[in-house]
Amino acid sequence: MKIIMLGAPGAGKGTQAKMISEKYGLPHVSTGDIFRANIKNGTELGKEAKKYMDQGQLVPDELTVKILLDRVAQPDCKNGYVLDGFPRTIPQAEVLDKALTELGDKVDFAINVDVPDENIINRMSGRRACVTCGATYHVVYAPTKVEGVCDKCGSNLILRDDDKPETVKARLEVYHKQTQPLIEYYDKKGVLKEVDGTVDMHEVFNSIVSILS
Ligand code: AP5
Ligand code: MG
Ligand code: ZN
Repeated sequence: MKIIMLGAPGAGKGTQAKMISEKYGLPHVSTGDIFRANIKNGTELGKEAKKYMDQGQLVPDELTVKILLDRVAQPDCKNGYVLDGFPRTIPQAEVLDKALTELGDKVDFAINVDVPDENIINRMSGRRACVTCGATYHVVYAPTKVEGVCDKCGSNLILRDDDKPETVKARLEVYHKQTQPLIEYYDKKGVLKEVDGTVDMHEVFNSIVSILS
């Protein structure tokens, strides 16, 4: 099963992708997480990506596409995956489609987690992230057992550099301009599913499970 998570920054793509990954045993592939791991490790890719991420802009397609295609060619992705944060532009979606077509394959579901902009800024300021395992928390809506420590792997949690309100505004603008057109793109392909992302995260997950089952 190949699943794409669509939605604005902070809509809950990562939160839901993690839950899908655990329930269905599919790898959770997040381009944002891959970039953050590279930034943490000080790689050349990380240095390049950080320039864009800190401004709330997209990392150029050439760079992003290569990383994604390498990742989904790994053996653990053979039976499917959940893509979170990719594709984010029409050209990225076209590259993915082409690569899948060559393998006689296709995207099964594109799930749009719908959350209006007004809710987003509030969510971002309370977010805490684990760069080691990709888990996401929220100080109010999804607190950890021990403050600042990942429940799943014990690493220290971070506040993302791009979660400042000014940067979140820039990310929302970029989303509406470059990423939102993907909703229509996948609708035309007949694989789009919409869920209300404003309700409790477990309710959001229940809606997704009924779509996938
Ligand atoms: P990326 O890491 O993908 O960030 P994003 O799309 O902006 O999305 P977020 O991770 O901020 O939000 P999310 O939807 O995953 O929400 P979450 O589950 O954390 O990308 C970062 C940057 O990398 C981009 O800006 C770009 O520069 C670059 N990049 C990445 N991919 C790229 C690509 N393909 N092309 C080019 N550049 C790329 O939830 C948010 C918070 O809300 C959490 O605290 C969570 O606990 C809480 N929450 C979740 N669900 C609920 C709920 N139902 N109710 C209440 N709280 C909730
Ligand atoms: Mg995320
Ligand atoms: Zn962790």
